[in-house]
Parts: sequence; structure tokens; C-alpha cells
Amino acid sequence: MSNDFDKLTQYGKSFSELTPEREALLIEVGKEIKPKLAGITEDFYQYLLTIPEATTFIGGQVEALKKTHILWMEGLFTGPFDKAYTEHMYKVGDVHVKVKLPVEFMAGAMTLINQRLTSLIVETYGHDKDYCAQVLTAINAVTGMSLLMMQQSYQASSLLEELEKFLKISGMSRALFTNLATAYRDI
Ligand code: HEM
Repeated sequence: MSNDFDKLTQYGKSFSELTPEREALLIEVGKEIKPKLAGITEDFYQYLLTIPEATTFIGGQVEALKKTHILWMEGLFTGPFDKAYTEHMYKVGDVHVKVKLPVEFMAGAMTLINQRLTSLIVETYGHDKDYCAQVLTAINAVTGMSLLMMQQSYQASSLLEELEKFLKISGMSRALFTNLATAYRDI
């Protein structure tokens, strides 16, 4: 499943309930929301820097990370949320695996981002309860889907790492392992 991005897109959408109507809503509010995202990025990094486990990974590159982060958040209100979006999120997950960011940082960071986006949306659309609720649901859907896609790459990388370790310890060749795995694929 990990490299079939069409399938992973459908899988992610089924869990997050990112419907075409919600995708359209995200794009609709984008014009008003995108100019306000810089404040969220600032606040997000200021807060991350108070978490000792996170500061190690941020190092001296906070300004560069802020730029990447704001571009990513703008994407949440731009779309399209298609196969290319999934592939991008999968690769973003991979980048974090390569810098050895613990997997729970993804869910933790997404929680912090959702909290800040919620405040911004309530501030902007709170006067219209129904519309505000719909926008919040759409944001929860797109961030949930993005998280799921990043976690897929974490899972694939961890399995690969374990396999590499096993091959090294056992002295088994990759070809033999692949043959055995094929022969015993149904167990
Ligand atoms: C919702 C969670 C997060 C999202 C969506 C996100 C997004 C991104 C994106 C889009 C990139 C650039 C990927 C590329 O080069 O193609 C990136 C890189 C990176 N992020 Fe995150 N990030 C998240 C959480 C975090 C957290 C919590 C930390 C650290 C505490 C972190 C540290 C980094 C680092 C170190 C890089 C690599 C920078 C480099 O070497 O180029 N990220 N992130």
C-alpha cells in the first residue's frame, strides 16, 4: 500500500472523511485564511521551542523551518488533495524519518497546529456557528489525512529498518528473504 498513492489517497480520505464538499470549503476560505497563517507558524515554533525534546531537532534552522511550515499550511487551503498531495505528504514524512524525528512528534505537532487553526477559524467565522463548524470539520479532515499519510512513511521506514537489522544479524541474503516471504506470504 505504501507506494500506491492512489490507493493511499482513498484510504486517507475514508478515515478522515475529507469529502469533495469539504475540499471545496477549504479552498473557499483559503483567500481569507492564508494571509493569517504567519501568526500560527510563529506561535507554533515559539511553543515547540519550549519542549526540550523538540529543540534538539530545530537547532539553528528555525527561520528556514518556519518558511517550509507556512508553505505547507497554505497547501491545506489550496488543494487539490489528490495523488500528488498524498505523495508529497508521504515524502514529508520521509524527511522527518531521515532526521530521526520520533513518530509521536507528528501527532503532537498536528495537535498544536489544529488548536491554533481552531482559534483562528472561531475568531474569523464565529459569528456564523454553522459555517464555522463546517470549516473546523474540513480542517480536521485535511490535517487528519495529512497525518495518516506521514505516519505511513514512518511505518514503512521502521519495517525496512527492522528488516535490514534482521538480514545483518542472520546473514541471510535479501534474495533469499524475498523468496521466503513470497513462499510464505499467506501465513
Ligand atoms: C505536522 C507536523 C509537521 C509538518 C506538516 C512538517 C512539515 C515539514 C515540511 C513540509 C518539511 C520540508 C520537507 C522537504 O524538504 O521536502 C519539513 C522538514 C523538516 N521538519 Fe517538519 N513538519 C512537521 C513537524 C515537525 C516537528 C515537530 C519538527 C521538530 C521538532 C520538525 C522538524 C523538521 C526538520 C528538522 C526538517 C528538515 C529540514 C531540512 O533538513 O531540510 N518538523 N517539515
